[in-house]
Amino acid sequence: MATQTRRVALVTGGTTGIGAATCQSLVAAGYTVAASFCGNEDRAKDFTSRTGIPAWRWSVSDHDACRAGIDTVEAALGPIEILVNNAGITRDSSLAKMTPDAWRAVIDTNLSGCFNMAHAVFAGMRARKWGRIVNVSSINGETGQFGQTNYAASKAGILGFTRALALEGARDGVTVNAVAPGYTDTDMVKAVPADVLGGIVARIPVGRLARPEEIARCIAFLVAEESGFITGATLDVNGGQRMG
Ligand code: CAA
Repeated sequence: MATQTRRVALVTGGTTGIGAATCQSLVAAGYTVAASFCGNEDRAKDFTSRTGIPAWRWSVSDHDACRAGIDTVEAALGPIEILVNNAGITRDSSLAKMTPDAWRAVIDTNLSGCFNMAHAVFAGMRARKWGRIVNVSSINGETGQFGQTNYAASKAGILGFTRALALEGARDGVTVNAVAPGYTDTDMVKAVPADVLGGIVARIPVGRLARPEEIARCIAFLVAEESGFITGATLDVNGGQRMG
């Protein structure tokens, strides 16, 4: 287990919500952890001062920025052996009202972001014969959701991406898995109109939103040394809202 303490993990969208909980869970498990963020500089500074976890700013939707950002993180901390593709956005509206910009923004961040980040770390992981990639999907990528054609497509796309990349990493000790959270107590979910969210929570068998730490726990499980035989899997964490 001695090597585990030295492994470097990078969590995108790591300064808030599920990402922040994941960073803290991985620190507690003994990893060296870095976060990336895109939007809110003040929140990132606050996160770093509270947790001691460094955070770098770039957009995962920008391929070149991902390469440059990863170079910076690796120069500071060492090779990234664990990548958690958590960064995600919503631009909810029915298809009739959805603008092409709202479509593209969600696909570029949520789905292309996984490609851009994996593209920059995958060769190194294979060369070192060890790596862990966890992509954060969503129950809504599995079931669909009114007002989320863009988001559901991106999150369903992540599942195909995960399975295909798992095949490419399997012989070299690189596992690629997805976590599909249900509705979780984050700013993203709090932005859903209260009446709509109330109806959704009423249909969750466990009867509440997930806590971000409950999703982080699953990510920490998948990146562990002992999880090397789990690859191409989707771990559903949704309070019983969708089974099977
Ligand atoms: N099913 C069927 N019909 C629905 C509906 C639903 N769920 N919701 C609304 N409608 C109907 C409306 O009643 C309306 O009907 P009328 O025209 O007859 O009045 C019609 O569809 C159009 O509704 P709107 O004009 O209100 O549609 P809109 O484009 O403004 O979008 C919405 C509404 C913003 C999508 C709103 O329904 C909403 O916020 N829904 C919640 C979406 C959601 O769950 N997002 C999850 C965000 S969190 C997340 O994504 C994290 C994760 O991974 C789980």
